[in-house]
Amino acid sequence: MRRGALVQLVLIALVAAVGGVALALFVPWLPQPAGKEADRINFVFWFTVGICIFVFSIVASMLVYAIIHFRAAPDDDSDGPPIHGHTGLEIAWTAVPTALVIAIGIVSAVVLSRNDNAGAHPFHVNVTAQQFAWSFNYPDQKNLAANVLRLPVNRSVLLTFTSKDVIHSFWVPELGQKQDTVPGLHPTLHITPTRVGTYPIICTELCGLGHAAMRSTLIVMPKDQFERWLASQMKALGNAGSNPAAAGKAVFANNGCGSCHTLAAAGASGTIGPDLDKIATYAKNAGQPLDAFVRESIIDPEKFIEKGYPPNVMPGTFGKSLTKMQLDALVAFVTGSSKGG
Ligand code: CUA
Repeated sequence: MRRGALVQLVLIALVAAVGGVALALFVPWLPQPAGKEADRINFVFWFTVGICIFVFSIVASMLVYAIIHFRAAPDDDSDGPPIHGHTGLEIAWTAVPTALVIAIGIVSAVVLSRNDNAGAHPFHVNVTAQQFAWSFNYPDQKNLAANVLRLPVNRSVLLTFTSKDVIHSFWVPELGQKQDTVPGLHPTLHITPTRVGTYPIICTELCGLGHAAMRSTLIVMPKDQFERWLASQMKALGNAGSNPAAAGKAVFANNGCGSCHTLAAAGASGTIGPDLDKIATYAKNAGQPLDAFVRESIIDPEKFIEKGYPPNVMPGTFGKSLTKMQLDALVAFVTGSSKGG
C-alpha cells in the first residue's frame, strides 16, 4: 500500500475517533451513579463504547477513503476488477471482532457475578409491587412497613420482591440494577448505595393504566441517621401496646401520609387527599363508626371517596403492607387526633 494512502486512512480514522469520543464525553448519557453496582455497569458500558468507537473509526476511514478515491466517473457503467479472496484480511476481520466480543463477554460476566454477590450479611428489605404502588418492609425489624424506601449508605442491601398481581419492574436509575417482579416468584436484587441522597424508584414494565404513576422514593441516609430513624420507629412500635397513638404518629410520618393529608397533630398540611382533621364528619357522611371508617379507608381507600377528592390516588398496597400492630396504631392515632377537630 502506498504511504500516502496509509496516512490518509489514519487521518480520517483519527477524525472519526475524535468525533466519537466527543459524542461520548459531551452528552450526559447516564445518570450520575450512586451505587457500587452502577459504577461497574457503567464501566461495562464505557468499555463497550470504547470498542465501538475503535471499530467505527476504522470502518469510517475505509468508507470515506473509498468514496473519495474509487468514485466511478460519470457514465462509467463498467464493473470493477474481479477480486477474489484475501486470506490475511479475512483472518484479521474475523479474529479481531471475535477477540473484542469475547472481551465484552468476559468483562460482563465478571461484573454480573460481582454485582449479584450480596456478601454474607446483607441488610434485608422486602419489596411488594401492586398496581400501582411499591411498598417496603424490613423483615429483620419486625416487618416495619414503609412506602418510602430508606437505606443506610455503603451497606450491602438485598431486596426480595413479591408481586401481588402482574409483572412490574423495579428500577432506580442511579443504582443501575433492575429487576422484574414476577407473580409467584420471589426474585432478589443486590444494591450497595454509595451516595447519600433522594432517588426515584420507577416501575419500568408496562403494568396497566397507572404504570406511569407507579413511583416511589429511595432515601439513602448516613449510617447513624438511618440507625436513629430505625430505632425511633422500633421504639414507637415497641410501645404500641401502652401508647398506640405515639406509635401511629411514627407510622404516619414514616409513610409520607402528610404529603397528601392535613392533620394538625402530625404537623401535616397536604391538600391532595381528605383533611384528616375533619375525619369525624367524613365518617358520618359514610354512615360508619369513626374507628371502622378510618380502618377501612386505609386498607381499601376506594370504598368511600369523600366528595371533592379524587379516587384512585391513595395506594391500597400501603394499608395492606402494614402489620396489624402498625395498622391498629395508625387508626388509634388518626381517630384520636381528630376528635378535637
Ligand atoms: Cu408497575 Cu409499571
